[in-house]
Amino acid sequence: MSSGPTPTTVPDEIPAEGNASRGSHRTAPTATAARTAAQVVDAVKVYGSGDTAVRALDGVSVAFPAGRFTAIMGPSGSGKSTLMHCAAGLDTLTSGSALIGDTDLSSLDDRRLTLLRRDRIGFVFQAFNLVPTLTVAENITLPLDLAGGRGDREWIDALVDVVGLRDRLHHRPAELSGGQQQRVAVARAFAGRPDVVFADEPTGNLDSRSGEEVLGLLGRAVRETERTVVMVTHDPVAAAHADEVVFLADGRLVDRMDAPTPEKVLDRLKAFEVKS
Ligand SMILES: Nc1ncnc2c1ncn2[C@@H]1O[C@H](COP(=O)(O)OP(=O)(O)OP(=O)(O)O)[C@@H](O)[C@H]1O
Ligand SMILES: [Mg+2]
Repeated sequence: MSSGPTPTTVPDEIPAEGNASRGSHRTAPTATAARTAAQVVDAVKVYGSGDTAVRALDGVSVAFPAGRFTAIMGPSGSGKSTLMHCAAGLDTLTSGSALIGDTDLSSLDDRRLTLLRRDRIGFVFQAFNLVPTLTVAENITLPLDLAGGRGDREWIDALVDVVGLRDRLHHRPAELSGGQQQRVAVARAFAGRPDVVFADEPTGNLDSRSGEEVLGLLGRAVRETERTVVMVTHDPVAAAHADEVVFLADGRLVDRMDAPTPEKVLDRLKAFEVKS
């Protein structure tokens, strides 16, 4: 999905979302629900070797449907970041396969993999990972500038308003709050209109209000512009912004939940704790 529709409306403010029914009222867009944006099949990832080997992924198969917002949850060390990095082509699997759309990442040489990451995937990291010497505007368009100026300027202009950074465009990251920095990172991730945005604990360093804003942006990107978002989180409230939650434990996929609410997610996490 390299050319989805532009957002029909770009409000000046991020609309407040109701808490009570969040997650329960959404259904996947029927036109895109059948397509898989990203997936791993029988994914195994072993770090190191011999006595110190760690089996971070132990045979995970999971598909992330296009046009959906999926959250990945699980205890620390369960393999969430590893799954995300391997699915996004930032790291390679020990065995099994990772696909973006129909493209098996292991079939690509380094150059093609770099191009695929640049053109079809966006990233948001817990630590923002902005370039400190560049302004907000330069950070947002960096991936496009690296690609030789390609890009939809109207889309980027709209993104700047959506993330509420119009009056900060010429500031540098150090002059912004954490929440503002993460909104820059979200805008950068979506600037190239990628098929999939992977976000690893994007609200992990934010207070709850800034976190809500970032989550609202991710949710809107999915609902209004049919992007696909895959997000790792420890926070049941954050996970409830997603259409679906997948749960990892010890490198395995152990559960899935549709239409999550914070309460349902919390109950499920508690049930895992009791079992283990
Ligand atoms: N580069 C690496 N070298 C060796 N071991 C690693 C490496 N990266 C991750 N691991 C190990 O793989 C396992 C899974 O790590 P991963 O970072 O995927 O967990 P996670 O679920 O993201 O945890 P957290 O919630 O703490 O971020 C852990 O045991 C971790 O120590
Ligand atoms: Mg992690």
